Amino acid sequence: MHRTHTCGELRIEDKEKQITLSGWVQRIRDKGGLIWIDLRDRYGITQLLLEEGRTDAATIKMVRELGREFVIKANGTVIERVSKNPNIPTGEIEIDLKSVEILNSSKTPPFTIEDNTDGGDELRMKYRYLDLRRQPLRRNLELRNRLSIETRKYLDSEKFFEIETPYLIKSTPEGARDFVVPSRMNEGQFYALPQSPQTFKQLLMVAGYDRYYQLVKCFRDEDLRADRQPEFTQIDCEMAFVEQDDILNTFEGMVRYLFKTVKGVDIPELPRMEYADAMKFYGSDKPDIRFGMKFVELNDVTKNKGFKIFDEAELVVGINADGCANYSRKQLDKLVDFVRKPQIGAKGLVYVKYNEDGSFKSSVDKFYSQDDLKEWADKLGSKPGDLMLVLSGETNKVRKQLSELRLEMGNRLELRDPDVFASLWVVDFPLLEWDEDSERYHAMHHPFTSPKPEDIEMLDSKPGEVRANAYDLVINGTEIGGGSIRIHDRDLQKLMFKHLGFSEEEAQEQFGFLLNAFEFGAPPHGGIALGFDRLVALFGGSDSIRDFIAFPKNNSGRDVMIDSPSKIATEQLDELKLMVKK
Ligand code: AMO
Repeated sequence: MHRTHTCGELRIEDKEKQITLSGWVQRIRDKGGLIWIDLRDRYGITQLLLEEGRTDAATIKMVRELGREFVIKANGTVIERVSKNPNIPTGEIEIDLKSVEILNSSKTPPFTIEDNTDGGDELRMKYRYLDLRRQPLRRNLELRNRLSIETRKYLDSEKFFEIETPYLIKSTPEGARDFVVPSRMNEGQFYALPQSPQTFKQLLMVAGYDRYYQLVKCFRDEDLRADRQPEFTQIDCEMAFVEQDDILNTFEGMVRYLFKTVKGVDIPELPRMEYADAMKFYGSDKPDIRFGMKFVELNDVTKNKGFKIFDEAELVVGINADGCANYSRKQLDKLVDFVRKPQIGAKGLVYVKYNEDGSFKSSVDKFYSQDDLKEWADKLGSKPGDLMLVLSGETNKVRKQLSELRLEMGNRLELRDPDVFASLWVVDFPLLEWDEDSERYHAMHHPFTSPKPEDIEMLDSKPGEVRANAYDLVINGTEIGGGSIRIHDRDLQKLMFKHLGFSEEEAQEQFGFLLNAFEFGAPPHGGIALGFDRLVALFGGSDSIRDFIAFPKNNSGRDVMIDSPSKIATEQLDELKLMVKK
């Protein structure tokens, strides 16, 4: 028998028991007469004790030859520790070692397998299986497992069916690039890996499976960031015979259930914010509402006072930073530098200190009197001791810039606590989005999203103003999920394709299967997909999803452990008829 217990299991109540443990040697402390070994497995760490004179000499000799990460089997008796360790669950006991068997030796690991390791990112990625031995990563995967189980439990209780959809498919229209797979049996033809199961889940609605879900891998060839991986997992869902409210309520229920069961947190009902308001008050379609600092538009109190920059701007807009009037010159310069960074792109920043004595000191004192600045303060809800920060320019650009500044101030003022959760629905997204490069409209979500019936008539005249029955789930400023009510009418779908610049032939060639299916009684339907990796990372208190995925890719999309992507053999290329002819 390899073990009677795991390394995380034994307690003081087990005193005197004869036990066997198997695991990895985390650490050995040899103090001459006494030797301690920390033995680790997935469940925890148990301390083993050897004492010269008491422990068999051969066993002591063998233990002195052990190295870190050796795999051993240990037999002994559970005893009470003299100096207890309250930080670990097994901290009250240790094992009086009788015998030990080496199950396998180990090379010295290239970094320490401790909570705070000395290994750099790339090295840990290369030896991911060693990194995964560390408790923080193990905890992350445990959290992931728990969330997937609870997700399935909730959806099962709501009568959803988990149905698998294929990975070798035809291009899906989610707007990123596809990963493609050559077909040996169909020369010169390619499968695409799904960017999402979007079209299949709609076909399942036509098939009558009116509540579908799947924890599913999706593949997108796009630039990577902390919250983006080329392959990631969605909780993908679709429902038939529903309206937007039914979907929002069902998934709000799921999110609240997950917070309750997995984190023990009761979250309040999710507010719903129109996209237009999210942009107006937060400059973002994924506002972080853990803190206020809402935008206030200041055109009417800033224009026509001789300050050319504001006079010429389409929008002058500001935020109020509580208690920041005491910012030093240096701190203010840092903020100016921040908004001027190329990624943000503002030309400058106007600030107004509302001093404790009621006076104002601003970077535009030349143009604005104390009374003028009092007007700004009233609009912004500023009080003595606060700092007003104002940007100006073209509406969409300046909103984006101020949104970045708002988040930066949120960070500086420590208003973005990872243990506080603020969720909301952003609703009524625009249907279409202008694309500068191709000089035409694209579907903001995807081409199957239905326009709001009352806005359809604007499709020709003001396409940019047509709103969609589309919504995002936003938590702590991260887009966790998105979905929409779909078009289920063939004619409307055709009209949409036309507006998206598809000719009839192109639409038929790419989505003929869906258009055809819509001729066989497609029910009204809609759905949503939640980014599962993002949800787990959020629950784990991190912005980066990488450490919540067992085997992630690095920022260049590489798996440095298995060294992929890699070249393939000439024979393989030949077989796939992919040889480049010279
Ligand atoms: P969408 O494209 O918004 O919608 O994706 C849904 C959610 O998936 C997550 N996500 C990602 N997570 C990690 N890495 C990525 N590269 C990545 N890309 C997206 C996000 C996002 O909110 N078919 C539609 C859903 C629907 O309409 O039902 C879709 O895929 O959290």
